[in-house]
Amino acid sequence: MELRIQQGNIESIKTDCIVLGMFEGKPDARHNSLDGKLSGGIGSLFSSGEFRGEFRTLKAITTLGRLPAKNIILAGLGKKEEYDLEKLRKMGGITAKYARSLGFKDIATDMHEVFMKDTGVRDKAQALAEGALLGTYQFIKYRTVETDKIKKLISVTIVCSDNLQEAKKGADRARIISNTVNYVRTLVNEPASIMTSLGLEKEARKVARECGLKIQVFGKRELERLGFGGLLAVNRGSMIEPRFIIVEYVGGKEKIAVVGKGIIFDSGGLDLKPAPYMDGMKCDKAGACTALGIVKAAAELKLPVHVIAAMPITENMPGNMAYKPGDVVTTYSKKTIEIGNTDAEGRVILSDALSYVEKTFKPGAIIDLATLTGACVAALGYAAAGVMGNDSRLLEGLKKAGNESFERVWELPMYDEFKDAIKGEIADVRNISSYPKGEAGAVTAAAFLSTFVESTPWAHIDIAGPAWINEEWPYALKGATGYGVRLVVRFLENLGK
Ligand code: BES
Ligand code: ZN
Ligand code: ZN
Repeated sequence: MELRIQQGNIESIKTDCIVLGMFEGKPDARHNSLDGKLSGGIGSLFSSGEFRGEFRTLKAITTLGRLPAKNIILAGLGKKEEYDLEKLRKMGGITAKYARSLGFKDIATDMHEVFMKDTGVRDKAQALAEGALLGTYQFIKYRTVETDKIKKLISVTIVCSDNLQEAKKGADRARIISNTVNYVRTLVNEPASIMTSLGLEKEARKVARECGLKIQVFGKRELERLGFGGLLAVNRGSMIEPRFIIVEYVGGKEKIAVVGKGIIFDSGGLDLKPAPYMDGMKCDKAGACTALGIVKAAAELKLPVHVIAAMPITENMPGNMAYKPGDVVTTYSKKTIEIGNTDAEGRVILSDALSYVEKTFKPGAIIDLATLTGACVAALGYAAAGVMGNDSRLLEGLKKAGNESFERVWELPMYDEFKDAIKGEIADVRNISSYPKGEAGAVTAAAFLSTFVESTPWAHIDIAGPAWINEEWPYALKGATGYGVRLVVRFLENLGK
């Protein structure tokens, strides 16, 4: 979908449909002249109560040829004092999808024109554009029947009465960020047998080439030479080679490493998942795909930072050679892991990646993104990720970025007791805790990871909930959400401030 910015009066735009944002109560005075041309049609919808402007309500009317636009969608924005950027982003998605469902090909919208406390046109245009670009994402490449019935919105025009330059800046940012999020969604939505470790390598090479980034790819032999015992152990049950991919964007001095869990498919391994839990486990590569998206977006936005995206990638399968409960694995750091459960594989591959990145790059901070635990989904659901770490400044920065981007994170504690719970019997650490029913699953997993970071500010973001959703949201479809790109990009943008 194309996104355009145009200066002018929405009344005079020739398009399939104009979208007019309306608060609860009565029509906005700025639409008086337009409503005059419709003989007060909008006003009478309000007075009859057919449309009240309540948040998320929509009403489509025809202009009967009285305006250059053929149709109007009235978009309820809710209460003026409660309106904020996230509501605008949601309405961007909801109205674009509604227009598409009615068969409109191009729409023009003025929803960012309304007053919002402490917020400039740039941020408003960005939020609106993000909503529309993210909301209209579809994953339809595998459909072969009735494809003519799939409706497509071709363009959305944001119409500004003034401040065109600011709105353009917002839209440019939205375009880069949303296209990246949609790219990440597609990588994650791709079936595990198609987007394999080799497939992801191809994608990473393409991103590196297109954005002019440095890339290193370690295959099985290099991983053996380097001693990536964790990644190799998890890979043993799979017929497909593992990869460790590093993509680097150097735009400034401050070095931030983003490490993403890349389990192409999590069957559980020999501790096989029951069918209902295994379905959807192609999402277990979301951390790695998001890390790739973050370095891509940082480069396209030319952020003044040095981003190192590091992605350990393998399937977790129960093949003949699969690693087994009771095995002991020697990781890159030389620390040993006792395998208590082969389904707690994410932390095993991250152990190598975290210590390799810390030792090799000496970054100012490490942020890992991982669909790590069902326990985190149980605790927080889908509206926030869990964040844990060893550095309060880093954690505060992520929380701030989360609130600003509305990809929220909620801090969970890192008590010493959790470290006690993951001590090994015969090795240094164990990949599951000693708690008999898997209690405190999200935080004991974080305690495990923390033992592989020596002295660098580090934060672990458990995205198992928000990376994948089972119902449609205002600007995300069922399936992969691309969660984490907007969060970490915002964090990187805030660094200089
Ligand atoms: N990939 C899963 C976690 C997950 C669950 C991601 C639900 C997305 C949605 C992870 O590898 C896993 O299997 N974790 C186990 C750990 C347990 C065996 C200690 C879990 O959370 O049950
Ligand atoms: Zn698992
Ligand atoms: Zn997993």
